[in-house]
Formats: sequence, C-alpha cells, structure tokens
Amino acid sequence: MGKIVVVGELNVDLILDGLSHLPVKGKEILANAMSLTLGSSSAIFANNLSVLGSDVAFVGKVGEDLFGDLVMSRLRRSGVDTQAVVRDRDRQTGATVAISFGNERAMVTYPGVMDTFGMNDINWDLLAEARHLHVSSIFLQPRLKRDLVSLLHKAKSLGMTTSLDVQWDPNERWDLPIREVLPLVDLFLPNEVELLALTGCGAVERAMNKLSRFANVVVVKLGQKGCLAMENGVFTDVPSFMNENVVDAIGAGDSFNAGFIHYFLQGHSVERSQMYGNLIGAISTTSAGGTGAFTSREDVMEIARTKFNFSYDDVER
Ligand SMILES: Nc1ncnc2c1ncn2[C@@H]1O[C@H](COP(=O)(O)OP(=O)(O)OP(=O)(O)O)[C@@H](O)[C@H]1O
Ligand SMILES: [Mg+2]
Repeated sequence: MGKIVVVGELNVDLILDGLSHLPVKGKEILANAMSLTLGSSSAIFANNLSVLGSDVAFVGKVGEDLFGDLVMSRLRRSGVDTQAVVRDRDRQTGATVAISFGNERAMVTYPGVMDTFGMNDINWDLLAEARHLHVSSIFLQPRLKRDLVSLLHKAKSLGMTTSLDVQWDPNERWDLPIREVLPLVDLFLPNEVELLALTGCGAVERAMNKLSRFANVVVVKLGQKGCLAMENGVFTDVPSFMNENVVDAIGAGDSFNAGFIHYFLQGHSVERSQMYGNLIGAISTTSAGGTGAFTSREDVMEIARTKFNFSYDDVER
C-alpha cells in the first residue's frame, strides 16, 4: 500500500489552565493545571492517523534539545516513522505557550527551527516509496511555503496523491497562489474561515464555486455543523456527531483530516470519508488537547461505540 508521508512543522504545546483572568503586565497570577504535550497541526495529524492504523512517516525538523526529544518519542510511541526527521544542532525546537481561562485562550508561539524547514531537508527516497503526501500549516513555514508548488509537482510526478490543510495565517495576508497550488492537491481540507479568507468570498458555497474552476475535491470543516464537500461540482453536506460535553476543540480539524484520509485512502467515497472524518473530529473533542483521545486504536473504537453509538463493524466493511 505504501506510506502516508506528512511534510510539516513540529513543536510542543505548554498549556496552562484554570486562570481567573489574563496575565497583566508587571503582575503574576497562578494556573491550577499544566500540561506539556505534542503540539503542531502536522504532528497531531500524523499521530492520530497512525493510531487509527495507517502507515505514517514524518518528514520535518526539530532541534537537538529536550523539546525535540519529546516530539520524537511521542511520535514513535504512536508508531510514526521518524527516520526522516532532521535534528538541527544550531536551532531550537519551537513551542506554543497557551493560557486558557474558561473557553478563551491566548497563545504565543516561538517557531524555532520550523522557520528554516524547506525542500533541502526532505528525504526524497522516502517520498519515492510513499503513496500519499499531506502538508499542513503552510503559513507557519515560510521556506516550505515558497517551495510548495515544486514539492507538490514532485509528489505528483512520483505518482502520489496529495492533501493540504493550510491552517491559520498569523500575518493574515493569505498570500498563497491557490490557482497554482490547488490543481496539484487531490484533497483540499480548509476550515470555513480559512476558505473565505483565501478566496476573498463572503459565503462558503460561493467560495467553493470559485475553487471549482481549478481545485479537485474540497472538504470544508464547519465545526459543530460537520463538513461540506465539493467533488466534480456536486456538494455533499454531512452533519457532525454531536458531543454535548466538549472538553476542548484543540486538534479537532487535524483529527478530522486523519479520519477522512485514513478512510478515503482505503477506497471509500468522499461522503463516507466525510462521515468518518466527523466521527474522528468529534472523538478528539472528548479529551484535552489534540492527541488526548488517541491512546490506542482500541480506545478510539471504544469512544466511538460508547459516546457516539457508532458501530465500527459497519465502517470497516
Ligand atoms: N463540538 C463538536 N462536536 C462534534 N464534532 C465536532 C465539534 N467540533 C468539531 N467537530 C468535528 O471536528 C471537525 C473539525 O473541526 P473544526 O471545524 O473546528 O476544524 P478546524 O477549525 O480546522 O480545527 P483546528 O483548530 O483543529 O484546525 C468538524 O468538521 C466536526 O466534524
Ligand atoms: Mg484547522
């Protein structure tokens, strides 16, 4: 079958919870909980996809430091092949510090080595043997963004299928050449806000119609409303699995991507893959952080059965 290769950013998340209010300049407040976990959209995607049972390899870069060790050990524990992750002696592994109070959070990210990750760091032998390429968080990786069209061309010339989730642009410039990029992307997986920002449209269907002239399959994530796909000009809306007790929605989008791609690459239709993506996104909201619910495939199946009344026998057929 071949591997699914994720080319992307790696960092850690330090999450401080239970604050009464945001910190104020010159003063100090206390958090009542703290966790240090695997961060970054690409890593959460790779981790959860591997836990679901896909064969996943990561191509990325971390520093030769403690945060780098943490990222590597967490990915390996979930079965992700990390042979092609470069360790850079000169730069640090980045981190996001997230402080949260109630449903609100404020985040600061130090990109570290992800700033410098680009085509030169890619192990092409690994790509040549793989079947699918996934790229995420393109605005956090300036060098990879510059090389994106070449990377996708190369993947297509190697006979691979491709997927892209752009994620948020911290500069809010949204300067991606989508007319060049999207013809090379088999599955485009933005969320609603990102889709509107990238296309300059005010409504989802209008934005999808605009993309239909040059994009392939587009699946837009709509949070609690589920997702909407466009394939050959046909729209398919699939509602979410309602979770009344959301712990947090960190990584729900990456988990959706993992579910969708895991299922789609087994030969299922876009619509069935949307349903499976929604299930895996909903499962992600039942635990803290992006990987909390993804301890093992058996645990994921158990949550699907008990919390979402979902029979895996149906879906695996
Ligand atoms: N409260 C919820 N209840 C059930 N399912 C949810 C909920 N929130 C999200 N999901 C599922 O997860 C999917 C992805 O969520 P969302 O639309 O928030 O993605 P995103 O904005 O890309 O997230 P991320 O911040 O992880 O990038 C949704 O399409 C839906 O299927
Ligand atoms: Mg997202």
